[in-house]
Amino acid sequence: MKATATANANIALVKYWGKRSTDPILPQNGSISMTCNGMTTTTTVEFSDKYKEHTVIINDEEFKKDEKDIHGHIDRICKIAGINLKAKVISESNFPVAAGLASSASGFSALTMAAAKAAGLNVSSKELSIITRQGSGSACRSIFGGFVEWHKGEKQDGSDSYAEEIVDKNYWPDFRMITTIVEVKKKPVSSRGGMAQTVANCPYYEGWLKTVESDLDAVRTGIKQKDFLKVAETAEYSALKMHATMIATKPPIMYWIPASMEIIHSVRQMREDGIHAYFTMDAGPNVKVMCLTKDEKEVSKRLNELDGVVRTILCTPGDGAKLVDKHLF
Ligand code: PMV
Repeated sequence: MKATATANANIALVKYWGKRSTDPILPQNGSISMTCNGMTTTTTVEFSDKYKEHTVIINDEEFKKDEKDIHGHIDRICKIAGINLKAKVISESNFPVAAGLASSASGFSALTMAAAKAAGLNVSSKELSIITRQGSGSACRSIFGGFVEWHKGEKQDGSDSYAEEIVDKNYWPDFRMITTIVEVKKKPVSSRGGMAQTVANCPYYEGWLKTVESDLDAVRTGIKQKDFLKVAETAEYSALKMHATMIATKPPIMYWIPASMEIIHSVRQMREDGIHAYFTMDAGPNVKVMCLTKDEKEVSKRLNELDGVVRTILCTPGDGAKLVDKHLF
């Protein structure tokens, strides 16, 4: 009853921001992301009657219960599998966790896949994305590789709110997502808390929702047509609209720090200079920059020259979650 899975983080091109239900987690809007090769979590799960409690160790640190409730997610998987056992979980990511870098996406998808296998559950990828979604919304997209859409669904039981691959990682290998690391501190407001506050208190939230469907159409079509400008322009605007709702909530949520602005202005300058680069940001200060292979060197060079940038991670469209043979313990 032991299994190991790896999963990549994903960065949304059309953002998910706001829940219509917290139990089960269901989104207010659909979203589209790229699964990012190079930002990977590996997780080993073992169920055994020798364990009296769940033990979760992430990057060498024991993880106690928090609002993300990893322990509760393991119980959820046990319940679906019809077992009553405790687990030992060891997880390692090759990038900073909880800094708006979608670590919960790779973490929850690797955990769900490994735990489901260890528990003897035999489910499809679609069902796996539904289970993953109940642990962390955006994580359901990391079950799949390449470019992925999470359908918001309509039903209250969540059976129609799942992720689906639009195209696999080999369809558009030229697409680049360059993640800049500006600081590795834990973020002050979690995405979970920030979303709830925005839905409850932002006067513009309805306006955000009204624009999402056309962004989804543009990005979905743009991906299929490999139309970089259509995808990247829409993605940048989706991120800005999402951050506008955060800033206009009460109390305001501001993930941007001076280094974030430095990168944003640098990307805008790149465009002035004829380089096709666009930015996106999530619930943290790090900025991710989209470009194509032809501009990758110049964009990386310029980003690494900025004072506020600690390092960059170059990501290509990557694999979905998968089981591997090598266990972490
Ligand atoms: O599922 P969560 O709580 O990790 O939500 C993350 C939401 C954003 O990263 C800000 C946007 C997105 O769609 O990934």
